[in-house]
Amino acid sequence: MPLSRPIKKAVFPVAGLGTRFLPATKAMPKEMLTVVDRPLIQLAVDEAREAGIEHFIFVTGRNKGVIEDHFDKQYELESTLRRRGKSAELDLLEEDLPAAGQTSFTRQQEPLGLGHAIWCARELVGHEPFAVLLPDMVMHAKPSCMAQMVETYHQRGGGNVVAVEEVPWEQVSRYGVVSAHDWENNHFMIDRMVEKPKREEAPSNLIISGRYILQPEIFDLLSTATPGAGGEIQITDAMIRLMASQPFLGLAYKGTSYDCGDKVGFLAANIAFGLERDDIGPAFREAMSDVLDRYGLKLCRR
Ligand code: UTP
Repeated sequence: MPLSRPIKKAVFPVAGLGTRFLPATKAMPKEMLTVVDRPLIQLAVDEAREAGIEHFIFVTGRNKGVIEDHFDKQYELESTLRRRGKSAELDLLEEDLPAAGQTSFTRQQEPLGLGHAIWCARELVGHEPFAVLLPDMVMHAKPSCMAQMVETYHQRGGGNVVAVEEVPWEQVSRYGVVSAHDWENNHFMIDRMVEKPKREEAPSNLIISGRYILQPEIFDLLSTATPGAGGEIQITDAMIRLMASQPFLGLAYKGTSYDCGDKVGFLAANIAFGLERDDIGPAFREAMSDVLDRYGLKLCRR
């Protein structure tokens, strides 16, 4: 089977417990937290759409029903907006909604790990290459991170691709880390991956940052996977096994990522996206500089 077929489907694992955001995530999914006014899951879907993805597969769990509602029509709201003449808001809702039949939802009954969540999507993906986007990693990139990955995938004749970025060495033990050889512009071949290595055992300080293009053979490997780091079924462990028979590329994509599963990353994303917005940017800049003044800090004025 060729490894370069088009990428038409994306999997969004959204079944995690989001314990780092309690109590916010007690009754509300982490993926519905907003960066300014867009939920994390909407930002991930926007990114996938920009990359030409046509089918969006959500792996959900308990307490995640609102994600399904978010990607549905809201008749009462729409008719109220129409009655009040709020056409800009109506257009926005319309634009954000994937077309009928473009979304699928399946369930991970127990949060056994990211690898297990992806495996839960196997019947919906079928036997074709697919993308995975972790919505709590928010990528600020133009073209979108996934669009850059799809371009590299086609340029290099297919295979598997992961987005990578450099982190300070003291942080490598929190992530999946890759080795890099045969660099060509901004991408390279990977021959080693380790999930959450000790600093001295990490092959580099390049981490996998929540975006993957995978060949469907990964599902066979996930079906026999056993728990790895943190007692969870890890996607990195299955990718290590797939590397024995298929190429893996790392893409040092152009852009900035914000780990919105972490409070500090989440707050930083809100500041960055808020400052960049045409509508609220100037007023937000003023408000930020007042806040910073109160704490004896300064925002450089443009
Ligand atoms: P995280 O590692 O951030 O875990 O998952 P989490 O449970 O969401 O959050 P914390 O660590 O308890 O605060 C990364 C992504 O993988 C999904 C999550 O929903 C998130 O989008 N995930 C994780 C699953 O779908 N299932 C799992 O078993 C684990």
